[in-house]
Amino acid sequence: MDSAAYSIPQLVEDLRSIRAQAKDERDIMNQVRPLARRAALAKEAWLKPEMFEADAGQGFGVTLLHEEPDHTLAVFAVSWLPGRGTPPHDHGTWAVVAGVHGPELNRFYERVDDRSRKGHAELKQIGAKTFGIGEVVAMPAGAVHAVWNESDAVSVSLHIYGKHINFTQRSQYDPDERTETPFVVKVN
Ligand SMILES: [Fe+2]
Repeated sequence: MDSAAYSIPQLVEDLRSIRAQAKDERDIMNQVRPLARRAALAKEAWLKPEMFEADAGQGFGVTLLHEEPDHTLAVFAVSWLPGRGTPPHDHGTWAVVAGVHGPELNRFYERVDDRSRKGHAELKQIGAKTFGIGEVVAMPAGAVHAVWNESDAVSVSLHIYGKHINFTQRSQYDPDERTETPFVVKVN
């Protein structure tokens, strides 16, 4: 596979054809995985210096590279400040993320409460893995994870979602306070 030349418009064309023929969410993610890796390794085609500029308030920077008019098939470059990350959160859609620059620690969680109380959520950590350049994590809708940059430099990853994450009504979680609240991010 030629990873030297693969642009975001080419990736988007491939995402459209995958969505048109895939059986289900799992099938979509399996087909998007190698494309996410390919686009991450072909970063010269799309990665710009300003995509390293993370927002100091939220700890990371989100640059929209593509979305369809109905907000589906959203592609973002996300930069992470050293020692910063996200609270545990879900996406409200499938997610495929590939490392572009630097390592990123992902912690994975499952919901262990019965979802009977609005705003209340109990999480249990079920795994953790650090993803490096070209490594891909795929999460179905409903999966909960938290991202952390443990390195001493800004990291960047390429994020592909079934829908723009500010339009999916997704949640963030506080495992200590046992709360679930809306999670909307600042996007450049
Ligand atoms: Fe996420």
